Amino acid sequence: MSESAGNQLDAAGEVALERALRRTWAPVCQADELTDKPKAVRLNDAALVVVRLGGEVAAFPDLCAHRGTALSLGWVDQGTAPAPDGSPATGEPCLVCPYHGWTYDKSGTVRRIPAVHGRAIPRRAKIERYAATEHAGLIWVLMDPGPGGWEDPSPLFPLPQVPWWGDPKLRTIPIKTYDWKSSPARRIENFIDFSHFPWVHEGILGDRAKPLSPDHVVESGGETIKFQIALEEPQTSVKGDVVPGTKVQRDPTTYTVHLPYSVTLDQQLPDGNRFILFIAAAPLSAKETRTFTWNARTYRMEPEADEELAKFQELILDQDQPITESQRPEQLPIDLSAELHIAGPDQASIEYRRILGRISAEELAKR
Ligand code: FES
Ligand SMILES: [Fe+2]
Repeated sequence: MSESAGNQLDAAGEVALERALRRTWAPVCQADELTDKPKAVRLNDAALVVVRLGGEVAAFPDLCAHRGTALSLGWVDQGTAPAPDGSPATGEPCLVCPYHGWTYDKSGTVRRIPAVHGRAIPRRAKIERYAATEHAGLIWVLMDPGPGGWEDPSPLFPLPQVPWWGDPKLRTIPIKTYDWKSSPARRIENFIDFSHFPWVHEGILGDRAKPLSPDHVVESGGETIKFQIALEEPQTSVKGDVVPGTKVQRDPTTYTVHLPYSVTLDQQLPDGNRFILFIAAAPLSAKETRTFTWNARTYRMEPEADEELAKFQELILDQDQPITESQRPEQLPIDLSAELHIAGPDQASIEYRRILGRISAEELAKR
């Protein structure tokens, strides 16, 4: 096969993968960031609006069917009172466009057009409705909910299981949300790649005198990829859970990839302590990734310790970002022959690519 034919195949595979992954839940903001006002977010290169309508979260294209105004500039009408022109209350919370007041219900159907009140609303006065939900302190959107539509979504993978969420023994804090110029798959692979610690995080997470990767078994279920490793961090660890100078053994450390783009790192620490780092990533576009992060700990529970521990995470991220953003192609090659792999340390990423490759192939086969 000529090189250009190969590239075309790769491109088709990538497009198929992106299309298939629109059938997965993607985080778009922290739940606290979504107040009683609509909020503009971006996902898969599309402008979306998320909004709380009554007790539910809803998501739509951020585009009014009338004149293309951003609905995120609008507001929520609780629907309990008649409109200023006397037309009856809609009876349910609705999203109101700020330009001419078209009023959308939770299904995206226009219920009120103030300028022609009393006359029939055009049948096409409707916008697409995406599935949306709140989970693990984040708002998640499913752009392609499947045949059941937004009311009965059938995602490719369930939302990540987070049994630790809300556990009072843990102090859970957000780490600053960040955007990298890389694909979400490259971002996730960086997170589960521990053999880079001595090189990118020398003296913090790894030691160049001990670059050997610990043995581990990668288990791949239908929804997760999981492995446990024993990690020894340098004695200069600034994670803050042990006295400087003592041996810092993270044993075991469990990584769980919740397909496609979330990961839980769960570490057992000395003295029965525990540290959890949860990330959930989403494609702003194919080559741009937004990552949301929760950090949970059982030690140094006082709120004053939050900032120092968050700063530690930011230090690590600042080291990872230029490496990950430099990777080409930006998309993770799902053809395993495209890059070289080392049995052992690269096992989890091989499995990750294999699964993404399978999703892509299944999608291509449908056409
Ligand atoms: S543009 Fe939204 S109501 Fe006119
Ligand atoms: Fe890293």
